[in-house]
Amino acid sequence: MSLFITFEGIEGCGKSSHLRALATRLRGLGYDVVETREPGGSRAGTTLRALLLGPEAVPLEALAELFLYCADRAQHVAEVIRPALARGRVVLCDRFSDSTLAYQGYGRGLDLETIRTLDALARDGIRPHLTFLLDVPVTEGLRRAHARGSSDRFEQAPLAFHERVRAGFRALAAAEADRFHVLESTRPFHEVEGAISAVALQRLEAQR
Ligand code: TMP
Repeated sequence: MSLFITFEGIEGCGKSSHLRALATRLRGLGYDVVETREPGGSRAGTTLRALLLGPEAVPLEALAELFLYCADRAQHVAEVIRPALARGRVVLCDRFSDSTLAYQGYGRGLDLETIRTLDALARDGIRPHLTFLLDVPVTEGLRRAHARGSSDRFEQAPLAFHERVRAGFRALAAAEADRFHVLESTRPFHEVEGAISAVALQRLEAQR
């Protein structure tokens, strides 16, 4: 009963906390759950994440950055995601292909079709069954991200960049309404959590 679920959204949208909450809920019900993330979900990915987002992040051209995210994904799919799904596990992933389209495409302005082509190579046939988009206004998301003290390459980007990324995520969700569930992350945590687990459980039960 394998299922691949991704969590997406701008900085400070709450996706990581909701991923953990869903993992806890599903484990409590007896599901075999893997929690992972991009970039950084594989062994090589840890080094790639430091290169992409670490405190000593080096200058990177937009295209070089795109290749590194795709390299991270190719390794992550091969090493972690595909084997877990093959064993019938539920994989919860913090960011996946939609982040590349939103950040490198809508945010950085790289061609969306080029990104789709490279991403398809990296994913090698793996697609999320369900994607939760945690939507939050940019000012609120950045306020939360700064409050937890993080400041990576993207968190230092101008507001207009984050507005493009947010609009990009919403456009992706509108184009694939069957896969995406958009949640207003300004709502109380327990309400959003309840909505996420209801959708996930319905999907899991439908597969029984
Ligand atoms: P986070 O996992 O702490 O949210 O940070 C990951 C950062 O990496 C976030 O700013 C978005 C960025 N990112 C991309 O730009 N492209 C991608 O394909 C992925 C997976 C992440």
